[in-house]
Amino acid sequence: MLRAADQVGTGLAGIDVAGLSKAYQGRHGPSPALQDVTFTVRAGEFVALIGPSGCGKTTLLHILAGLIEPTAGSVSMPRRHPGRLGTALVFQGASTLPWMTVLDNVAYGLRVMGVPARERRERARQHLGQVGLLASSEAYPHQLSEGMRQRVNIARALATDPAILLMDEPFADLDEQNRLLLQDELLRIWQEDRKTVLFVTHSLDEAIRLSDRVLVMSASPGHITTEVPVPLGRPRDFQKIRQDPAYGALSARLWGELREEVLRANRS
Ligand SMILES: Nc1ncnc2c1ncn2[C@@H]1O[C@H](COP(=O)(O)OP(=O)(O)OP(=O)(O)O)[C@@H](O)[C@H]1O
Ligand SMILES: [Mg+2]
Repeated sequence: MLRAADQVGTGLAGIDVAGLSKAYQGRHGPSPALQDVTFTVRAGEFVALIGPSGCGKTTLLHILAGLIEPTAGSVSMPRRHPGRLGTALVFQGASTLPWMTVLDNVAYGLRVMGVPARERRERARQHLGQVGLLASSEAYPHQLSEGMRQRVNIARALATDPAILLMDEPFADLDEQNRLLLQDELLRIWQEDRKTVLFVTHSLDEAIRLSDRVLVMSASPGHITTEVPVPLGRPRDFQKIRQDPAYGALSARLWGELREEVLRANRS
């Protein structure tokens, strides 16, 4: 069985964040959301990001996706290649476009990128197959279950062939069983494609199950307080890893790192 460290691919792009700060403009002046955030994600690595609510995780992902500008600091990311996005962002919950079929939803990012119609349909079908939704190509999002809709979102992100996949609590709205199934699917796709993934979650279980390393953020304004490697082998069978004593130790360690920050966030 491969250990996590053996699996980090080479030749792909990673993320390098140094001294990143962001202040939003509030009614009473600037309000800091991120303060001096520094970390690296290696090419092909799967990194989870956990932290109390409001600590700036979404803000960080939005900066990495180029949706908002930081106040200070630098981000080093792969350059965009023709027909390929540098990053793709998968949000929590409903972000499918209800008036488009599943196929058109998945092809949407490619349309925005200017990919010709025939090619974008082909690529969309390929990625729908990857998430097991080819049979629902012509359905509309409201005809799908929540888990299927979230698979459409994942296929849409993958279709743009990003070097880096940014995921912001993508499974938070799913029930436990469907969450486990989608985690399996994401891991399978990641093993095939070996994209660099930064995955935000509130679930310690999810962070341990999926990632090579967990970054822990402080209460607001967020910075990285520590990083915890996840030295569990892959593939990660849910039943097996739950019985691994290392799993319990990791969970206890993460909660130990997070508890004070969550209490601090709740007091503010
Ligand atoms: N557009 C905005 N304008 C002003 N303040 C904002 C804006 N977006 C976020 N904030 C503030 O920035 C801080 C960080 O918010 P952010 O959404 O990044 O946190 P988060 O860690 O993703 O929280 P959660 O875990 O609840 O999703 C919060 O205090 C929030 O109120
Ligand atoms: Mg958030």
